[in-house]
Amino acid sequence: MPQGATLWGGRFEEAPDPTFSQFNQSWGVDRRLLHADVLGSMAHCRGLAGAGVLSAVEAATILDGLRQIQEAATPEGLAASAAEDVHAYIEATLHGLIGDLAFKLHTGRSRNDQVATALRLWLREEVAGVIALVRRVQAALLDLAERHPDAVLPGYTHLQRAQPILWAHWCLAHFEALSRDVARLEEVYGRTNVMPLGAAALAGTGFPIDREAVARDLGFAAPCRNSLDAVGDRDFCVEFASAASLVMVHLSRLAEDLVIFASREFGFISLADAVAAGSSLMPQKKNPDALELVRGKAGRVFGHLTALLTMLKGLPMAYNKDLQEDKQAVFDTVDTLRGSLAVTATVLDHTRLREDVAAQAAGRGALNATELADHLVRQGVPFRQAHALVGKLVLQAEQLDVELHDMPLEALQAVCPAIDEEVRAALSMARTLASKGQLGGTAPRRVQEALRQARAALPA
Ligand code: ARG
Repeated sequence: MPQGATLWGGRFEEAPDPTFSQFNQSWGVDRRLLHADVLGSMAHCRGLAGAGVLSAVEAATILDGLRQIQEAATPEGLAASAAEDVHAYIEATLHGLIGDLAFKLHTGRSRNDQVATALRLWLREEVAGVIALVRRVQAALLDLAERHPDAVLPGYTHLQRAQPILWAHWCLAHFEALSRDVARLEEVYGRTNVMPLGAAALAGTGFPIDREAVARDLGFAAPCRNSLDAVGDRDFCVEFASAASLVMVHLSRLAEDLVIFASREFGFISLADAVAAGSSLMPQKKNPDALELVRGKAGRVFGHLTALLTMLKGLPMAYNKDLQEDKQAVFDTVDTLRGSLAVTATVLDHTRLREDVAAQAAGRGALNATELADHLVRQGVPFRQAHALVGKLVLQAEQLDVELHDMPLEALQAVCPAIDEEVRAALSMARTLASKGQLGGTAPRRVQEALRQARAALPA
């Protein structure tokens, strides 16, 4: 059989139309599974030997041929082949190496369980790699927090200045979301790490292969329990794309924060040359391209999630060729995610806060108005009344163009007689921050504790 010949054809009287052959060919995409598919084939070969289908000598010869394919295969060397898919390529290449014995390898197996096994083997490694990259971003966030341990900035709601927060608290907020992403990806790993091999085309293998042993051989937690389900579902791909989508949501929100902070209007951070790009026309420009690309690529990953869900919806049990479309979505999700995580970590490594600019912004715009209301509450004023009184004071302060804490005591007392000299200390930045001392708040001692816990939770 020449390389690239079909794996089927006995019952056909006519050759396939070239238009169809080309349309049907997935080699250009699924050759990325070559190493995973060879690993699966090696384990299947040992399973066949264990079942007495292959002699020890036959198995050793096949394994040696597969090893040669494994070692010889480079992405460049793989580029040109007329093979229908990666499975056809491997069988044809093995035949070229060891002759007709190669045709025994597919005993008790189908490309249906073969491809599902290869994809799970491949994805499981990638998920582990993605988790490591998420942790790398988390470590960069902790470094960024620790570079500015006492810095404050305005916290926002509706993108309007709301209350002052610690810079480290902001870093830890992004860290926290990524911790949930890691937990989700670990779950995806667990459900991906189950072995379809032995399901064959749909009904189960016809040979006494010890599937538990083959699963152990490949490092799978267990074999899939139902042969139809094993070859007919790609929910693990959907779960991965879903977890990946949430990572991208979180990276794009971080990117957006940094894009805003780097604008002249905010000026909290300045973009490092290493992660910015210029304009072909405007000589003065320095643009946050890296961050904008992360934000933009999020949509691409959501698209893959939608494509996978749509591909699966309403498919009859069990394998259908529609499923071949899974790979492009999964591969590009992995590539986009990895690239986005790596560049985000790099941007964070280069990020420095302009502490004075951020602190100044946090001190302007009555961000301590809530603190004043809370101060009144502590003196016995019901909160709703305190809110209304402070609202009046905020209006006056705005009209006088001063901050609340700079208003004359008489002016404050004219609106609210309960206010005393103590108020100025109560409205200070230090007190405003320190009062948020409950679990999860931005008080410095809480944030230091959270930072320590976050460090301890990250593997070294
Ligand atoms: N290239 C196919 C895929 O990715 C392999 C399985 C094909 N099986 C079949 N019976 N046509 O899904």
